[in-house]
Amino acid sequence: MLEPQPIAYDPDYEGPIVSVRGLRNSFGEQVVHEDLDLEVNRGEIIGVVGGSGTGKSVLMRSIIGLQSPDEGEINVFGEQILGKSDAKTIEIRKRWGVLFQGGALFSTLTVAENVMVPIREFYPDMDRDFRREVAKYKVCLSGLPADAAPKYP
Ligand SMILES: Nc1ncnc2c1ncn2[C@@H]1O[C@H](COP(=O)(O)OP(=O)(O)OP(=O)(O)O)[C@@H](O)[C@H]1O
Ligand SMILES: [Mg+2]
Repeated sequence: MLEPQPIAYDPDYEGPIVSVRGLRNSFGEQVVHEDLDLEVNRGEIIGVVGGSGTGKSVLMRSIIGLQSPDEGEINVFGEQILGKSDAKTIEIRKRWGVLFQGGALFSTLTVAENVMVPIREFYPDMDRDFRREVAKYKVCLSGLPADAAPKYP
């Protein structure tokens, strides 16, 4: 069987390092990004600032390929990355690094499961059902509605 050939990157490439054009992201009815453009050039340091839930992480996730946008074009090191397999983009992905936000929630775990992570770490002998109860209690203490517990962040 033929292995997919990774895209070779051009080491002399001098264009924008990240280029986002016409990005659209939505979740059901909620539109997070509409026609968003962003360009980051070599040596530039850019901060993305905005209130909680305004779409900063979804933008980052789109650029690094963890989120499939509805529309738009994303080029990193001059290579179009959307719609390409992991095998095809591996050489490009080896060139970037991503740091996890301290204190952030794991997006693949529910809110309650996120709360249970440090409880399990610090109290490994605690009974699982009791851990669940404590997590629910802590979600309510935070001021979130109780029905937030089974939702994803
Ligand atoms: N997988 C998902 N399913 C449904 N909605 C989502 C999903 N991921 C993000 N959202 C929604 O998209 C919006 C933008 O979320 P995002 O995580 O990008 O916000 P943020 O700007 O990074 O916020 P914060 O400053 O709290 O990190 C929020 O309303 C969020 O609820
Ligand atoms: Mg975020």
